[in-house]
Amino acid sequence: MAQIIDGKLVSQNVKDRIRDEVAALKEQGKEITLAVIIVGDDPASRVYVNNKKKACEYVGFRSLEYALPVETTQEELIALVQELNEREDVNGILCQLPVPKHIDDKAVIAAISVKKDVDAFSSYNVGQIMIGDYDFLPCTPAGVMEMLHYYDIAVEGKNCVVIGRSNIVGKPMAMLLLHENGTVTITHSRTKDLTSYTKEADILVAAVGRAKFVTADMVKDGAVVIDVGMNRDENGKLCGDVDFDCVKEKCSYITPVPGGVGPMTIAMLMQNTLKAFYLQEK
Ligand code: GUN
Repeated sequence: MAQIIDGKLVSQNVKDRIRDEVAALKEQGKEITLAVIIVGDDPASRVYVNNKKKACEYVGFRSLEYALPVETTQEELIALVQELNEREDVNGILCQLPVPKHIDDKAVIAAISVKKDVDAFSSYNVGQIMIGDYDFLPCTPAGVMEMLHYYDIAVEGKNCVVIGRSNIVGKPMAMLLLHENGTVTITHSRTKDLTSYTKEADILVAAVGRAKFVTADMVKDGAVVIDVGMNRDENGKLCGDVDFDCVKEKCSYITPVPGGVGPMTIAMLMQNTLKAFYLQEK
């Protein structure tokens, strides 16, 4: 039976550290602000944005929400981003994805000042991550690394297999594992005989977006299993990409859903926002 990696606990530690730092900055009259843009009324995005706002409140950041109607044009959205870029009292900007189909998310991301890009989605920040010289770490992969560190799980020399190649999770996840000297394989929907790769993984990261996709037969005995998924099962219950109940009997560590990677993503967003504040102070 695996040890459960408690993302709530680790994220709480990160947020408490930030909260103390923010309190000290407040005593010097300094305030940190995150601007969050949401376009349309996707219910999942609404939940994510609310959780981000709650975390801001907890650590002592000011949060500004821009809830724009679904018919907002790309020009209008970019004009807002540019206005927020210019504002000295705004330290971080994020536009919740996905945006409605008529808006090109790449154009929106490109419009965000690289110094305020707390998601680390811009091509500049992605490039900095690639060369290992970054200010902002991508929130979800950074949250995974933080959990591995907290539980003293070494990456060096390990076989790390990532399932999924998204720009938000799979690709940057692979890069962060590589920075810590893991031997990394990225697998995806066109990978042939996926199990032959996953069975070799000492550290397996599932970021597929399919409920309970990773089954016990795909996992090596004693592996560390990280579940980035956030899905609904056949009964409408939240679940990850990993068949938790079966896989937990076989691996050494596993993250639950909910309460694993999700809270970490938000904690790392807070960390990036604090970093953005310091970058802009320079
Ligand atoms: N949509 C799903 N995950 C994310 C995230 O980390 N940041 C933003 N901006 N949108 C998302």
